[in-house]
Amino acid sequence: MILIKNGKVVNSNSIENHDVLLDKSTIIKVGPNLVSGNKNCKIIDAVGCYVLPGGIDPHVHMNLSTPLGYSSDNFKSGSNAALYGGTTSIIDFVTPKRGENLDYALSSRIDEAKVSETNYSFHISLVEWHNNLEKQIKKCIKQGYSSFKVYMAYKDSIGLSDSELRKVMNIVGKLGGLLLIHCELGDKIDVLRNSLVDEGKIEPCYHPISRPAETESEAVRKAIDIASTEKCPIYIVHVSTKESVDHIRIAQSKGQPVFAETCPQYLILDDTKYKGEFDETSKYVMSPPLRKQEDSEALWNAISDGTIGTIGTDHCPFTKSQKEICRNDFRSIPNGVGGVEHRLALVYTYGVLTRKISINKFVEVTSTNASKLFGLFPAKGVIKPKSDADLVVWDPDAENIITASKHHQNCDFNVFEGVKTTGCPKIVIKNGKIVVENC
Ligand code: URP
Ligand code: ZN
Repeated sequence: MILIKNGKVVNSNSIENHDVLLDKSTIIKVGPNLVSGNKNCKIIDAVGCYVLPGGIDPHVHMNLSTPLGYSSDNFKSGSNAALYGGTTSIIDFVTPKRGENLDYALSSRIDEAKVSETNYSFHISLVEWHNNLEKQIKKCIKQGYSSFKVYMAYKDSIGLSDSELRKVMNIVGKLGGLLLIHCELGDKIDVLRNSLVDEGKIEPCYHPISRPAETESEAVRKAIDIASTEKCPIYIVHVSTKESVDHIRIAQSKGQPVFAETCPQYLILDDTKYKGEFDETSKYVMSPPLRKQEDSEALWNAISDGTIGTIGTDHCPFTKSQKEICRNDFRSIPNGVGGVEHRLALVYTYGVLTRKISINKFVEVTSTNASKLFGLFPAKGVIKPKSDADLVVWDPDAENIITASKHHQNCDFNVFEGVKTTGCPKIVIKNGKIVVENC
């Protein structure tokens, strides 16, 4: 038993001076002046701290297989880093090879994830169309996996053509699923990146030039249009541009079920990171690329007004040497950056403390909304009796500077190196057990 006393309990719609009593992996009481009545109960004094629902990161890629090897965090190291940042649940992806059965890919991925220190679940990527797909999707839904993902980029490996996208949307919509979409116009990007390389423009600074803002926003517009005719609820991952936000806002105002996510890198960093030498700039190769400061401002506004409902990390780090293999061609640099450990501290520091968003909105976008969208509510994303005992005692005053020399992510650099944060988890509880204390 654990009793958390004297904290400010924050939910997406409330903040109260309450105590929280946990028994095994469940919250059993929330209220003022609680006593446990059990002499073995551990008492945590949370005076001066917030008590938050454990963070839920709806977008991570642990142990992602690429032609250049695996991303550098596996389920063990990546989930451990997540816990240190106050994230107690992650949602990763099952990405079958073309020709592979979804069911088989799902059970292999479940095996890989068993070492995870956080709670975990999966979205299932649909990387091709075939006549058996409807049956396989139905089976996934029956097993409790009802969010699927498609890529409009990466057409030569996992991306779908527009006609495949339409068929997938039709089926996922009909079966009551939710479709996550990586919105970038793959064909247009391929033409741009190939012509840049033909001109000898091979450095990482050409990565963002090969994926300009309109290749995202036009993909967002197209995805919204097809989803509207096929009656499929969609969730647009890692939104990075102002124009994408505009399209999403319009669709939502018409009542279309369009949900949107962004990531800390698009809120905190910008495309000036692509100026400089290979060793520095290659670190920031991710898709979509970093954008302009105006885009970050539009993203914060969209979080504040509810257009963007979730903040995931797209956690997918690669080490310096993995990024460096591809000095001669930016197209081959493995895409992705790490951040699972820093999501809460970054959003708190640059969102709550700058008054862009409230502490309730902070909880909503880092935990509650992901829980609701991905079938975890009311077990997760809220502090109330009968919910899971996944909690963070958040010290709002602790100051830190992000650095690779101290982080828990398995990567020899950090894209947020030198970024100052205020606020961090003092205690993290997962399934009723203290998993991080006084870090
Ligand atoms: O650059 C990124 N986002 N890497 C992770 C894989 C993906 O595209 O989601
Ligand atoms: Zn991703």
